[in-house]
Amino acid sequence: MKLLHIDSSILGDNSASRQLSSEVVKAWQTAEPTAVVTYRDLAADAISHFSSTTLVAAGTTAELRDAAQQHEAELSASTLAEFLAADAVVIAAPMYNFTIPTQLKAWIDRIAVAGQTFRYTEAGPEGLCGGKKVVIVSTSGGLHAGQATGVAHEEYLKVMFGFLGITDIEFVRAHGLAYGDEVRIKAMSDAHTQISEQLFAAA
Ligand SMILES: Cc1cc2nc3c(=O)[nH]c(=O)nc-3n(C[C@H](O)[C@H](O)[C@H](O)COP(=O)(O)O)c2cc1C
Repeated sequence: MKLLHIDSSILGDNSASRQLSSEVVKAWQTAEPTAVVTYRDLAADAISHFSSTTLVAAGTTAELRDAAQQHEAELSASTLAEFLAADAVVIAAPMYNFTIPTQLKAWIDRIAVAGQTFRYTEAGPEGLCGGKKVVIVSTSGGLHAGQATGVAHEEYLKVMFGFLGITDIEFVRAHGLAYGDEVRIKAMSDAHTQISEQLFAAA
């Protein structure tokens, strides 16, 4: 099986979501030693934001594209191909300003492609990625689960991947990380336990 591992935190070695997403991947490899992992660090190697150049590139044949359009087309194609090839995706999604990092949104903009990952039918939209499993490592300084302040973070990701037809979505959470040492240590410890004891329990 092919596993795509996505990090998006800008906090480098101090990142909670990087630590946890790496643990998820290690646990996955232990459960499935033949898993082939592809890693993308969206903070170190940012994907450019959607622009008019991106859209024009998509509608222009390769021979007629200029260098900037060619770059955009190749970036879109490689990002989409990596996602399509993956059986499972582990996504580290910290909360920044009540939503996901802008780098992660830029990645999502490249994988939400009509005719490839979803399509519109007479009956409405249809997701085309139904066989994939997604594990989202959700970190935040505050506590937002079930509240309006969390809608653009976890709820958005559920809507987005649901739109692509993915129903197997699991969250590993470490929230309240800014609430002092005690809460932070407990939140990280609970996440470690979830990864080591529960994540692959049903597998
Ligand atoms: C730029 C920035 C914006 C943040 N905005 C929020 C926020 O809106 N709500 C919140 O609860 N925590 C916020 N935080 C705290 C992070 O969610 C918290 O530090 C978490 O650990 C981030 O995950 P990471 O360590 O993997 O980057 C913010 C942190 C940063 C750096």
